[in-house]
Amino acid sequence: MKKLLIILSICSLTAIFAGCNSTPTKDDFSSKEETTETPSATTENGNPSYDPKRGEGKFTKVDVGATLDAAMAASGEKVYGVKCSSCHKTTDEKLVGPGWKGVTTRRTPEWIMNFITNTDEMINKDPAAQAQLEICLVRMPNQSLSDDDARHLLEFMRKNDGVK
Ligand code: HEC
Repeated sequence: MKKLLIILSICSLTAIFAGCNSTPTKDDFSSKEETTETPSATTENGNPSYDPKRGEGKFTKVDVGATLDAAMAASGEKVYGVKCSSCHKTTDEKLVGPGWKGVTTRRTPEWIMNFITNTDEMINKDPAAQAQLEICLVRMPNQSLSDDDARHLLEFMRKNDGVK
């Protein structure tokens, strides 16, 4: 976010200067700078500029529908019962880890999928995960979820947050 602000202010400064002496080369340069920043979100191993919205991991774009996929959510609920409910409630109450109520509005789908499949790396890199670690004082262990399990859990969280 900070980076975006810096880029924006550089761009607007360049725009002001370009307005003064209207050199087209300067304009070209500034728009190039803008485009080189965007692909960083898709960098694979070791994303150099960490994107806190997306988190760290293989999920760069998770398409969730406008409506709930009830079958996926039901399957996610089963996994929750086996692997997650010992530490997470579905309310906003903390157990060992934070309650899940509202998690799909606090975090993006990509963040959630990356966090639950790439937990160690996310806790090492992500400011929000680290802040939560400070509150919970327990590091969430990796749950070795399959990609499908992770997606189904996300759907269950969406259901829990009222998606119909
Ligand atoms: C041993 C306890 C434990 C288990 C089991 C566990 N978690 Fe966690 N979880 C935590 C703790 C503690 C945190 C917060 C601290 C951190 O980041 O490590 C957390 C954080 C999270 C968060 C981030 C919540 C937020 O509000 O940002 C998600 C999402 C999550 N867990 C999903 C899962 C899923 C899905 C499972 C089951 C597959 C699971 N957890 C199993 C302890 C656990």
